[in-house]
Amino acid sequence: MDTCKVLAVETSCDETAIAIVENGKRVLANKVLSQIEIHKVFGGVVPEVASRHHLEGILPLVEEALEEANCTLDEIECIAVTNGPGLVGALLVGVSVAKSLAYGLNKPLVPVNHLAGHIYACFLDNPVEFPLVALIVSGGHTDLIYMDKHLSFEIMGQTRDDAAGEAFDKIARAMGLGYPGGPVVDKRAQKGDASAIGFPRVFLEKGSFDFSFSGLKSAVLNFLHNSEQRQEAINVDDVCASFQQAVVDVLVDKTIECAKFKGVDNVIIAGGVSANSGLRKSIEKRCNEEGLNLFRPSLSLCTDNAAMIATVGYYLYKAGVRADLELNAYASMPL
Ligand code: KG4
Ligand code: ZN
Repeated sequence: MDTCKVLAVETSCDETAIAIVENGKRVLANKVLSQIEIHKVFGGVVPEVASRHHLEGILPLVEEALEEANCTLDEIECIAVTNGPGLVGALLVGVSVAKSLAYGLNKPLVPVNHLAGHIYACFLDNPVEFPLVALIVSGGHTDLIYMDKHLSFEIMGQTRDDAAGEAFDKIARAMGLGYPGGPVVDKRAQKGDASAIGFPRVFLEKGSFDFSFSGLKSAVLNFLHNSEQRQEAINVDDVCASFQQAVVDVLVDKTIECAKFKGVDNVIIAGGVSANSGLRKSIEKRCNEEGLNLFRPSLSLCTDNAAMIATVGYYLYKAGVRADLELNAYASMPL
């Protein structure tokens, strides 16, 4: 069988990532340089700082990836790169490096949507089948997508305000739990009582697959504020557990409803928040009850990485998608 090695570049937010993947499946190298420790000090990602660190870290990372994959640049068939959605300054570093590699090596350049990448992270270690419904839950997005074949994305629902991960990050910040908030809230929630505080579940109009998390976020912030005013002690574990359960209930319900509406047997969860233990447990239980197949990326592939970009890049390359050296980066970019 012909082998097709894709080198992928991902710099949409605060991880610099380079991967080499064979035939959209076999990960030969998956290097991620996280900037979490740098941005922690500021309580969130500072775009300009992210761009500068991408710039410093990216070329050595390309060399490390080649070494890990034990391959030369000559063996690479094409260069895939995330060109949106994300922080434009950050994306531009990756796009410039990918363009330079493609030009210098005379190899095709393939543009990849970051959200498609999150979905395709699932394909790396799961026998995923179509048609399917995918829930993407990350720091910037909460989307329900229907796919009947490769590279075909129908948006069924989106968040109308905060993304799920953003809500985790904001309430964690309000409680002084640090950045990023998701993993800490997840950990604290495991020690708390999810029924301690009755936070709202917002389902919007009947039949809608859209999401809204800003009301829930405000309810948590109000609860914290009121407790403080009354000088009542706050049980952080209970707040985390009750908040997380409210998010998970809505995410799981809408995903299952969407799968039923489209008549599919297959469900994917993807994006940083798909690493959440409460979500993983809850959706697994509901999918079992409803007779649906659930596919989840392994934990290390839930958050940003370039292996997922290489996988989409492979399918796009095979479909003949190419970019030229005019390729730009976009803060928002439809799937
Ligand atoms: O996909 P991702 O790495 O980057 C974006 O494309 O946004 O997602 C990052 C988001 C952050 O908001 C982070 O708090 C959240 O994913 N996250 C989690 C967990 N791990 C990461 N949220 C809840 N529970 C987790 N275990
Ligand atoms: Zn992401």
